[in-house]
Amino acid sequence: MTDMLLIALFAFLGAAAAGLLGALVLWMLRHRSLAVSLTVVAAVAVTAMLAGTLTVAWAMFLSAHDLSVVTTVVAMAAVVSLATAMLLGRWVAARSRDLTLAARSFGDGGTFDAPAEQANAELAGLTRELAATSAKLESSRERERALERSRRELVAWISHDLRTPLTGLRAMSEALEDGMAADSGRYLRQMRKEVERMNDMVGDLFELSRIHAGSLTLTPTRVSAHDLVGDALAGAHPLAREHGVRLVGDLVEEVPVEVDSKEMSRVMGNLLINAIRRTPADGTVAVAARRSPEGVVLSVTDGCGGIPDEDLDRVFDTGWRGNHARTPPGGAGLGLAIVRGIVEAHAGRAGVHNVSGGCCFEVTLPAVAG
Ligand SMILES: Nc1ncnc2c1ncn2[C@@H]1O[C@H](COP(=O)(O)OP(=O)(O)O)[C@@H](O)[C@H]1O
Ligand SMILES: [Mg+2]
Repeated sequence: MTDMLLIALFAFLGAAAAGLLGALVLWMLRHRSLAVSLTVVAAVAVTAMLAGTLTVAWAMFLSAHDLSVVTTVVAMAAVVSLATAMLLGRWVAARSRDLTLAARSFGDGGTFDAPAEQANAELAGLTRELAATSAKLESSRERERALERSRRELVAWISHDLRTPLTGLRAMSEALEDGMAADSGRYLRQMRKEVERMNDMVGDLFELSRIHAGSLTLTPTRVSAHDLVGDALAGAHPLAREHGVRLVGDLVEEVPVEVDSKEMSRVMGNLLINAIRRTPADGTVAVAARRSPEGVVLSVTDGCGGIPDEDLDRVFDTGWRGNHARTPPGGAGLGLAIVRGIVEAHAGRAGVHNVSGGCCFEVTLPAVAG
């Protein structure tokens, strides 16, 4: 019994010494390939066994014959386990190299093609994560491209839209300069109109850039939807009269909303101007405000004859003006983009749907208590 305990003790000491040495080697080689580490681990296992056996033999518990038998057995085990460890190590290293190459390809702008074969659960998990990241990266690249495209288009359109009135202004001012204008009063009135239109356009651009830059600071106050709509209707009256369009606002509930009045007036103004311009003479533009489960809904309904279904999603896009020629007089297609930007800054939603004879633009604002 004591012998057995001693044998165990000696074997343990020998194996522990081998283990410590192995740990040191593993630590020194920790930055090398997994194949190296696996080989070291297999070598440590075999060496530990050999060291234990030799210690026991040295303490004279084993005969010379027994020692040679054990050593031979251990040597055979060493050959097999080292070979296994090396094979496994190389295989895992190769799979991980495949993964590295695949990851590099999506970093360089391609998409991530997961290697067909996965070495183990950890690498398979990593592969799944990389695939998810690659998908996210791709969708954000796509968003970026779309944004860049619309920005470029916008710049092109705006330059075009600004050039037209500028050309007119130059022609008129030259005519005035040369004394060629028969009716200089008419020229001057026309010039003022063009300047105002350009001024509005630049104002819209400025507003839109503030919205996009996120620097639109709102000063919300509590106002009644009734007042908001009333002011907007009053502001739109001259244009409606000019177009022979009737403005009605008798379905306006007395509900409170918390909004930046200046920005919301701009929203209502843009919606009303669009509606009046696109409603034929003798038509009606109706403004309403009501409470709904989602909040307070302000709506502007016109008699435009409806917007094609495929265009309904696009009317709020920056610079979108339908299929009409991109020529004045009309806006630059910024009005509804501004509407949506301001409404969303108020945590609201802006939408449009067709109704009989026209379309209905709706702005939903969060309800406030009281
Ligand atoms: N009330 C409306 N009725 C019908 N179509 C509209 C209405 N408001 C806007 N649209 C369509 O949406 C487009 C974009 O509107 P908007 O952003 O205000 O630009 P703009 O008024 O400068 O054309 C318009 O050109 C028009 O085709
Ligand atoms: Mg407009």
